[in-house]
Amino acid sequence: MFSLASKTALVTGAGSGIGAAIAETFATAGATVWVTDRDEPSGRDVAGKIGGRFLQVDVAREADCEAAARQVGALDVLVNNAGIGHVGTLLQTTGADLDRLYAVNVRGVFNMCKVFLPGMVARKAGVIVNLASIGAVVGVRDRLAYCTTKFAVAGMTKAMALDHARDGVRVNCICPGRVATPFVQARLQEYPDPAAAYREMAATQAVGRMGQPAEIAAAALYLASDEAAFVTGTEFIIDGGFSAGK
Ligand SMILES: NC(=O)c1ccc[n+]([C@@H]2O[C@H](COP(=O)([O-])OP(=O)(O)OC[C@H]3O[C@@H](n4cnc5c(N)ncnc54)[C@H](O)[C@@H]3O)[C@@H](O)[C@H]2O)c1
Repeated sequence: MFSLASKTALVTGAGSGIGAAIAETFATAGATVWVTDRDEPSGRDVAGKIGGRFLQVDVAREADCEAAARQVGALDVLVNNAGIGHVGTLLQTTGADLDRLYAVNVRGVFNMCKVFLPGMVARKAGVIVNLASIGAVVGVRDRLAYCTTKFAVAGMTKAMALDHARDGVRVNCICPGRVATPFVQARLQEYPDPAAAYREMAATQAVGRMGQPAEIAAAALYLASDEAAFVTGTEFIIDGGFSAGK
């Protein structure tokens, strides 16, 4: 198994779902883990369970990100996992909806990289893993704002990977298909028949089921590990065959 012994990692949005699974997997792999979330109770809960340290960070707030960088100091692995969704076509999406998603999904990743990348470059070592989505690889119906922001995350990932490869910093993103988390449960409530929508979502994946957070965390562990030293600028698709074709 891949080891993160003697590494320090920080995961955003780690109070729930995929972020919580990544934090737990990293702790099991030997890392010192900073569990961060804008929601204090859930973040503290995860930190307590995995023996991590909690910091309240709203990634959309620059001041929170700067405070986190001061508190954490040298960081080996940054996982930009915090993200929010919205269901709707362009006609069903307001400018305010788009701005809200942009502030977290894009600006949040930017804000965290802004405060932690300089230290990584100075130490000539660091790994950044961004949670994009299959909606950063193909269009997904009724997800106009979400796809827009996640394609931006993939673009930021590739641009940063090129800019900082020779600085010893690797930057990759993970593009999950549908994963059974509170995020997905919340989205389902926006449908007239949530149970039917759940069955439909599971069926869109070739394997006929949703992914589990631990299946995404395993990829994050690999990307964070030294075994992935030759991997940068990739979109690691984990989608149960969703994007393989019809
Ligand atoms: N679940 C899926 O099917 C799926 C698929 C593809 C991509 N993703 C992406 O994976 C990531 C995690 O998704 P999840 O399903 O685990 O979500 P989730 O809703 O279960 O958890 C997200 C966490 O992020 C936190 N958060 C939200 N906004 C924040 C902010 N501004 N600052 C700090 N924390 C904030 C929430 O409090 C929550 O704890 C997201 O970026 C999401 O877009 C999820």
